[in-house]
Formats: sequence, structure tokens, C-alpha cells
Amino acid sequence: MRSKSITRAAAVIAAAVMFVGVAGAQVPAASPLPADPAQAQRERQISQPYNNAPVWKEIRSGAPQFTSLPGRETNVLIQSEGQTWRAARVPISTAGGFLFALALLGIIVFYTWRGPILVQGRPTGHLIRRYTSSERIVHWTVAITFVTLGLTGLVIMFGKSVLLPLIGYTLFSWLAILAKNLHNFTGPVFAMALPVMIVMFVRENLFRAYDWPWVKRFGGMLDRSGKSEVPSGKANAGQKVLFWLMVVLAGLTLIVTGLILDFPNFNQTRQTMQIANVVHMVAGMFGIILASAHIYLGTIGMKGAYDAMRHGYVDESWAREHHAFWYEEVMAEKPAHGLDAAPPAPPQHRIA
Ligand code: HEM
Repeated sequence: MRSKSITRAAAVIAAAVMFVGVAGAQVPAASPLPADPAQAQRERQISQPYNNAPVWKEIRSGAPQFTSLPGRETNVLIQSEGQTWRAARVPISTAGGFLFALALLGIIVFYTWRGPILVQGRPTGHLIRRYTSSERIVHWTVAITFVTLGLTGLVIMFGKSVLLPLIGYTLFSWLAILAKNLHNFTGPVFAMALPVMIVMFVRENLFRAYDWPWVKRFGGMLDRSGKSEVPSGKANAGQKVLFWLMVVLAGLTLIVTGLILDFPNFNQTRQTMQIANVVHMVAGMFGIILASAHIYLGTIGMKGAYDAMRHGYVDESWAREHHAFWYEEVMAEKPAHGLDAAPPAPPQHRIA
């Protein structure tokens, strides 16, 4: 038993060392450059004809060379950090792929076990405005661009290893070109819409004292009877955590690194782009995993949530049960929030 766990621990340590080794792989450790590399090469040609190791050592050293071509890095023949980047991409994307698959599996297991979160009381037919038209336009612009970027990003990241063996070179080539162009052109639209979303939704996502009990009991979401939902404001603590991690952290990181990659004509070095690429990959997988949870709850995971963002209104019962403090606030201020406002579709279509 003990030897088994020691073997397992040794395997984990070996895998970690291998990962660090691959990620850190660069130019093999070399002896210091000779004072006059050109002279060293001339001597090497005599002692070992055809051996041009001193030339390569100088090239891979990263020491600035002479060129008459103007521009950044035109005097770098081989950019050695590129090897580190190439080596690091594979384990990072593989780990991201596994985590994403695990997240999808987790959502399926949760849905099978828990089922959708329902409204316990009967719909009253009184509707409360939850999101204005401008909030919904911004939300759906971000949502559509994010999903497009996520799907095309997955094709760019995993297409070669997952899709190519299944669909062959011709089809994959078309798909890859389409994915790349869609990704590159949708990115700037996302970059313009996301900051607007942050400004619009930041107020309701500031943490308040009443969020702590929600966190401690996970909002009562694990209670399958659905009768112990913890009261929350307009956004509950789970939505707030998602807002700060998915929208602000992942979203802004993706925008900054994405713009560095999308516009290589601002004199950035190749190493800057390689670092941006790795950070972009990690932030992308992180954002996609969080967005999967958000999309699940915004569609099949919680009855009536989709209608809130689709039409902008929720039934009074939905508001009272899922966002009790917000409901109290609205009731104290009605009719400013649009209670009983004319719905764009009959209420029974929107609260099941
Ligand atoms: C197909 C994709 C998506 C669907 C179906 C969806 C659905 C929804 C729904 C139903 C709500 C309302 C929840 C409620 O009333 O409590 C909502 C709110 C929201 N969604 Fe999405 N969404 C999607 C994608 C996204 C993406 C990609 C982002 C950001 C990166 C996002 C950010 C937000 C924000 C900020 C809110 C407001 C809630 C809050 O204040 O935190 N959504 N979404």
C-alpha cells in the first residue's frame, strides 16, 4: 500500500519535472562565446572542416548582429525563445483541453443530479423589468462575439490534433482558415463591447455583506428541493464572482493579449507576441470554462433566467425566490422599475 503511494508520488514528481523541463527548454546550455567568433570559425574550419558550430553558437547567443535592413529584430537570425514557446504550447493547451472536458462533464453530472433550478411558487403574472434594452444589446453583443471567439479559438488550438484526423486535410484547411479569420475580425468587436459591459454591470456586482452567507451555503443550489435558496441582490455572489473572474479578469486579459497578436505592426518583438500568445491561451481556456457554467445557468440550468436577458422582464415570483433583496428594493421603489410594464410576450411564455 505504502510502496504504491510512493510510486504514485514519484510519478507525479517526474511528470512535473518533465513539464518544467519542456516549458523551460531553450537552446542547450552552451559554453561561453569566444571573444572573436569569426576567428574561432576560421580556426574550426582548419581543425575540423565543415564544422560550423562557432557560427551557430554566435547566432543562437542572441548577441546583436549587424544588418543594413532597418526595423526591429531584423538583426536576429534565429530567435531562440521561440523554441521555449513552441515547447510550452503543447502541455499548456493539453492541460486546458482536459480541464475544459472535465468542466463539461461536471456540468452534465450536476444537471443530471440536480435538474434545473425551478420557481417554487406560481407565477403572479406581474412582471418586473430586470434588464434595459441597452443592457441586453451589450450583453448579446458580448455573448455572440465571445462564443464565436471561443469556438474558433478551440479550432485553432485543438483542430490539428482533434479535427484533422477526423475530417482530413482539405476540409480542415478550409475550417482552419475560416476559424482564423473569424477569430481575428471578431476580436476587435468583443474588445469594444466588453468594456461597455463592465461599466454597465459593475455596480450590481460590487460585493455586499449579504453575499457571505450565499457563498457559505453556495446559494442553496445544492439543495435539490430548491426550498432553501439564499437571498441575494440583483446579482447573487456566484454571478459576482463570475463577473470579476470571467468578464473583468479573463475578458480584459484576452483583449490586451489579443490586440498584441492581432496587430503585429506596432513594433512589438516576437518574444512579446509569444508571451501574449501563451497568456491568451490560458485566459481563453479559463474564460471558456467559466462561460460554460454561466451559459448553463442562463439556459437549461435555471428556469426563467433566459427570458430575463431575452425580453428584459421576470415574473414577480421568480424575482422573490431567486433575488429576494433585489425584489424588496424594486417593490420599495415601484413603479420606477417597471412593475407591471407591458411585456413583449404573454407572461406564461416566460415563466414556466
Ligand atoms: C450564449 C451565451 C450566453 C447566454 C445564453 C447568457 C445568458 C445570460 C442570462 C440569462 C443572464 C441573466 C441572468 C439573470 O438575470 O440573473 C445573463 C447575464 C449576464 N451575462 Fe450572460 N449569457 C451568455 C454569455 C455571456 C458572456 C460570454 C458574458 C461575458 C463574457 C456574459 C456576461 C453576463 C453578465 C455580466 C450578466 C449580468 C449578470 C451580472 O450582473 O453578473 N454572458 N446572461
